Amino acid sequence: MIYIKTAEEIELLRLSNDLVSRTLAAVAELIKPGVTTNQLDVCAEEFIRDHSAVPGFLNYKGYPKTLCTSVNSQVVHGIPSEYELKEGDIVSIDCGVILNKYYGDSAYTFAVGEIDKKVENLLQVTRESLFKGIEQATAGKRIGDIGNAVQMYCESFGYSVVREMVGHGLGKYLHESPEVPNYGKRGTGPKLTKGMVICIEPMINLGRKDIVQENDGWTIRTHDQYPSAHFELAVAIDHEKADILSTFKYIEEVLKLKKQ
Ligand code: MF3
Ligand code: CO
Repeated sequence: MIYIKTAEEIELLRLSNDLVSRTLAAVAELIKPGVTTNQLDVCAEEFIRDHSAVPGFLNYKGYPKTLCTSVNSQVVHGIPSEYELKEGDIVSIDCGVILNKYYGDSAYTFAVGEIDKKVENLLQVTRESLFKGIEQATAGKRIGDIGNAVQMYCESFGYSVVREMVGHGLGKYLHESPEVPNYGKRGTGPKLTKGMVICIEPMINLGRKDIVQENDGWTIRTHDQYPSAHFELAVAIDHEKADILSTFKYIEEVLKLKKQ
């Protein structure tokens, strides 16, 4: 069953998702060769607790950390460790918070130093595909319209869409109905109505779509070991256009300053 949120609940979800967006920006400041994914995790946990919130993934179904840090061929759910990021890596940072009983959930894939031009294009197209999906996220459309827009865009560049992992509803629970696949047919699936809040999170592979789970019971990586990118925003469905609850603006301000 799909929980429809009141205007008050959407304002609370906006606060939770704004905090998660600012947490990702705090992490972005630290990303460079030599930093460990555990150091990023500590930064995120401190930032979240300093803002009177609780990490949303920590202990969720036994998950051991605040962030998911998925490097290169890792798609999602990589566990922070003593691994040191190195020049040329990409790393998806996925973060959740609980603030005032409501979840925030957002992800961004970062380049570590200079990266391969082909991988840079993968990141750009995956990010753009998320906004193609968001364009479809209006009242009266269907879930399949979102997935179709993401899929058509990414496949036009020769990339492939992960099938097994999907976006989701967001509210008092991290994973609510409906599922939000990044592929599908237009005009199919549950109808979108005002007050639904969903996370759209394309997971796009440079090579083939197949994934495998690593032996840690969490990490998902590509079967062919080619890189994968992941971007996630939470949006509230409304008439005309989606109300985007999380944002990349804080992250991208940090990235711009780091380049100078
Ligand atoms: N953003 C991810 C998702 O929606 C985060 C879940 S990680 C977990 O699935 F550790 F909490 F499971
Ligand atoms: Co999510």
